[in-house]
Amino acid sequence: MFGEQKVSYSGVQPSGNLTIGNYLGAIRNFSTYSEKYKTFYCVVDQHAITVRQVPAELRRRTYETLALYMACGLDPEKNTLYVQSMVPEHTELAWMLNCFTMFGELSRMTQFKDKSAKHSDNINAGLFTYPVLMASDILLYQTDVVPVGIDQKQHVELCRDIAERFNQIYPDTFTVPEPIISRSGMKIMSLADPTKKMSKSDENTNAVVYILDDRDTIIRKFKRAVTDSGSEVRYAEDKPGVSNLMSIYSCFTGKTIEEIEREFNGKGYGDFKLAVGEVTADALAPVQEKYHALLADKAALEAQMKKGAEEASWYARRTLSKVKKKLGFVQLR
Ligand code: TYM
Repeated sequence: MFGEQKVSYSGVQPSGNLTIGNYLGAIRNFSTYSEKYKTFYCVVDQHAITVRQVPAELRRRTYETLALYMACGLDPEKNTLYVQSMVPEHTELAWMLNCFTMFGELSRMTQFKDKSAKHSDNINAGLFTYPVLMASDILLYQTDVVPVGIDQKQHVELCRDIAERFNQIYPDTFTVPEPIISRSGMKIMSLADPTKKMSKSDENTNAVVYILDDRDTIIRKFKRAVTDSGSEVRYAEDKPGVSNLMSIYSCFTGKTIEEIEREFNGKGYGDFKLAVGEVTADALAPVQEKYHALLADKAALEAQMKKGAEEASWYARRTLSKVKKKLGFVQLR
């Protein structure tokens, strides 16, 4: 809550090509808050360097992620869209919050465990303290709600714990945020292994549908998606492949699982997979068109980055100054 206004905050790493998991689990839901909340959506480039990035690619993806935010319906006049590294208050607050976060808490983070297993040659301190930077992103803006996929829930819960701990020692410093997890899109699974999250860092590109994939590619990937034994289109725990495709179909059409079961009653997996591919391609086509137009104007994107960073900084500075005062740092006017 900033003054009288409720705040929605979220972020996406520019660390790979964004997937329909990012879209359905997060980005698509961001604009629901634009009317009633003060909204901040950040391209979190500092989070991305916890694993090695190719600099030119990170730079390019930063522009692309901002363009995608806008192509997915985030109007920069109604939402503050910005790049994390352009607002240095994030890392400054992160240091302070590090001193209020326990080693044991960070050790329990499943993303840290997964990523350190995957990048065993580079288990750096940034990977370990990543959730503290994320808490700092959220708390700087006195955030009420954080729309994310379910994989980020643990991090938002840690953020709540940090905020509550800080508030207990220094009352009324931070708003304690709530994670908001959309029911259907909370965890879109890999098309090759439906027990695994669909991830932009997956090496198997057939397992992942990217927001920017063309129509033929999307349809081909869904046709090749791993399904389960049997041929019935039915949502069930022992049918993770079909159930995942049903969730995707439900997200893009707004139909309930029961409606989908009825629609494909008596039809096989082939028809169903084709239908999932078609609705996905149809839904993404206008996003892609807007994206390409936005990306073509680099100067406009840079102007947006500058405006967004200025807006965000204004809020960030206010919270940071409050924190410094509470902690006992001398601040000169
Ligand atoms: P990131 O970049 O991995 O993912 C961005 C958003 O997409 C969601 N998501 C998914 N949702 C459903 N199904 C999937 N397969 C799927 N894959 C990704 C994620 O849950 C996320 O909401 N740490 C964050 C970025 C971050 C952040 C923040 C988020 C940094 N600071 C502050 C919220 C608030 C991350 O790595 O997201």
